[in-house]
Amino acid sequence: MFRSHTCGDLRLQHAGTEVTLAGWVQTIRKFGSITFVDLRDRYGITQLFFNEVLNEQLDNFPLGREYVLQVKGKVVERSNKNPKIPTGEIEIAVQDFAIMNTASVPPFTIEDETDGGDELRMKYRYLDLRRPSLQHNMQLRYRVNRSVRNFLDEQGFMDIETPFLIKSTPEGARDFVVPSRMNEGQFYALPQSPQTFKQLLMVSGFDRYYQIVKCFRDEDLRADRQPEFTQIDCEMSFVEQEDILNTFEGLFKHVFKEIKGVDISDAFPRITWDDAMWNYGNDKPDIRFGMKLCNLKSKGQVHCNALHGVEFKVTNEAETILAIVVPQAADYTRKQTDELTEWVKRPQIGMTGLLFVKNNVDGTLKSSVDKFFDESKLRSIADFCAAKQGDLILMLAGREERTRKAMSELRLEMGERLGLRDPKVYKPLWVIDFPLFEYAEEENRWVARHHPFTSPKPDQIDLLANPDNYGEIKANAYDIVLNGTEIGGGSIRIFQRELQEQMFAALGMDKIEAQEKFGFLLGAFEYGAPPHGGIAFGFDRLCALLGGQESIRDFIAFPKNNAGRDMMLDAPSMVDEKQLNELHLKIS
Ligand code: AMO
Repeated sequence: MFRSHTCGDLRLQHAGTEVTLAGWVQTIRKFGSITFVDLRDRYGITQLFFNEVLNEQLDNFPLGREYVLQVKGKVVERSNKNPKIPTGEIEIAVQDFAIMNTASVPPFTIEDETDGGDELRMKYRYLDLRRPSLQHNMQLRYRVNRSVRNFLDEQGFMDIETPFLIKSTPEGARDFVVPSRMNEGQFYALPQSPQTFKQLLMVSGFDRYYQIVKCFRDEDLRADRQPEFTQIDCEMSFVEQEDILNTFEGLFKHVFKEIKGVDISDAFPRITWDDAMWNYGNDKPDIRFGMKLCNLKSKGQVHCNALHGVEFKVTNEAETILAIVVPQAADYTRKQTDELTEWVKRPQIGMTGLLFVKNNVDGTLKSSVDKFFDESKLRSIADFCAAKQGDLILMLAGREERTRKAMSELRLEMGERLGLRDPKVYKPLWVIDFPLFEYAEEENRWVARHHPFTSPKPDQIDLLANPDNYGEIKANAYDIVLNGTEIGGGSIRIFQRELQEQMFAALGMDKIEAQEKFGFLLGAFEYGAPPHGGIAFGFDRLCALLGGQESIRDFIAFPKNNAGRDMMLDAPSMVDEKQLNELHLKIS
């Protein structure tokens, strides 16, 4: 028997038991003629005690950090107990030991708080993964995976695999392509998602499909983006938007209950895309706190009367003026407001300045624009924004889109600074009624906001006839947002050939191109396609949020760095000439 127990099993009630443990050496503490060793595995840490006799043997075979050790011994009560760990009341009086393997000195400490930088940790990911915090993350990921599967299984969903070597289908990001050896000059693409396959499975009659599946997107990376990531991908037939929202709200509640012990009994709030944009400045609002945007002026139209009759170029010339009310921050010092001004001027935010009005506790008002706005005007701004005494009003003025984006960032920053974004508080919501299209300035054409298979609102289908209307058309599309992160999105699909062709045409694809790219789907729609819809969740993002973190990297066993590299494998890499020749490729 290699081991009778794990390093996390033993308690005081086991005192007197003969046990065998195996694991990694975490620490070695020598005190004269005796030695204590902490032995670690993924279940915990157990203290080993080497007496004088064994200590002499240890002198001949000295231990080092991360050595793989097997010990036989007796569980005894510790005199010096450690209440911080579950095994802290006992230790193993070692009777015999065997060094199973030695280890070089690891490049960083294998503990929760490590001294290794990101790149080093990724290079030695197999050691990084030994750290308890990452072991915990992987375990959480596995538990979420199981919880999702159990729920969907009970609801009659079937897990069906779909291929990875497919045809390039535009879904918003760039494709990763794979050259074909057997088909000279031709390429497969890796799926950005199984979108068209899951729709085809509906045509085949598998009315409830799911898959926990890898997706591949060649896009710029951020903390919550990886080039290969995992989706919980789902599709249902004979459903309307309401059925999908209810089913997957159920999935969410189930996972939260099982993983966090949190009962979310209320229905998730639903807000329209328009409202999200106006109230929060973005379509994935963090609703753990208020501080909604006040709209003083938009598209050149003044909503707050105090702005009239003022000789101030900034507010007069701005297309848009937005404000937020920061609760109980009127006592911000000059230094603090200057620092905030610098913050909004950073290139990532890109504003030229910040205006503020302090609605002081004593009833007075103070502003960075006192020169242009007299007391009564400042009062009217404070009233317009519903600021209470003691609140600080922050205002940004500029071009519509940039100002809205900047205000959304400033709101999040103030929420963070005021401690209103507690990672232990979970506030999910649905954002619904997304626009069907968005205008891509650089390409000078309309593109699908979600993807080209999303159906317009049925009563707006007629608007597809005229491109002038495209900006107005709303889709049967929805996102699920948790604490300011988009963790899922989906839609009710188009299931008639004619409408799908009309949609492709609206996106600038002629009949021939549509046939070439999506002939398989258009063809399938001719053979009795049922009404259907679905959703996909970002599994890595969901796990990270459940683990109270923003970066998904530490919830993926072997992630890529920000340049899309696998530091451990040192991939991507060159391939040899022979491989290139077989693939009919030349590097130019
Ligand atoms: P969408 O593109 O919105 O929808 O993706 C669904 C969810 O996947 C997550 N996600 C990512 N996670 C990590 N890294 C990435 N690079 C990344 N990109 C997306 C997000 C997102 O909400 N086929 C449709 C779904 C459908 O219509 O059913 C789709 O893929 O959390």
